Amino acid sequence: MNMGLFITLEGPDGSGKSTQIGYLKDFFEANNIECIFTREPGGTHIGEKLRNIILDNENSEMCDMTEALLYAASRAQHVEEVIKPALKEGKVVVCDRFIDSSIAYQGYGRCLGDLVRVINEYAVGDCMPDITFLMKLSPAIGRSRIDTNDLDRLEQEKLEFHNKVYEGYLKIAEHYRERFVCVDAQRDKEAVRDDIIAAVEKALKVRG
Ligand code: TYD
Repeated sequence: MNMGLFITLEGPDGSGKSTQIGYLKDFFEANNIECIFTREPGGTHIGEKLRNIILDNENSEMCDMTEALLYAASRAQHVEEVIKPALKEGKVVVCDRFIDSSIAYQGYGRCLGDLVRVINEYAVGDCMPDITFLMKLSPAIGRSRIDTNDLDRLEQEKLEFHNKVYEGYLKIAEHYRERFVCVDAQRDKEAVRDDIIAAVEKALKVRG
């Protein structure tokens, strides 16, 4: 369905996604390839409002199903308003987190199970990523890399929750092997970048 290329980045908090997104920006700019960078939750005016509700530490009473539905709602808006139109124009879209974050965090982390995949398949329709990079890094190391004085509602969860999320990610990557590229994110950032860029170059070649 897509004429463009849809790339998503996934992984635990602190796994270096933002740094790698910076490198991807440099790569697409240097190669004169039209590309948009976006994120979830958020990416649209409505999505950013939903993001504030979801991540707000004051909303401690939010139940797990509400959380899952809000992420999916933000995603539905993002797909219709931003991602699909850009892909239709033949652009590359790079998204910091997408459907697999919900399956990992809400499906596995919150134990809502396969229902999360079903809800999100409604939210995204046929707009699935072409390549998903999974930054492989133990949540304990990820946590040691982030500023623990400024944690959002999800980041504040116990390490036990983040370990369940990570195990979920590994299962998802195994299940959707055709689109997942797993990257050892414990190495230095340039080595991680080289693996990611090599996979992107390969995908661009296949697209022609
Ligand atoms: P964010 O600040 O974007 O985290 P990061 O910089 O690590 O990507 O916050 C998003 C948080 O929301 C993050 O902890 C992961 C979580 N999340 C979900 O639980 N489900 C989802 O569907 C998405 C997109 C994110």
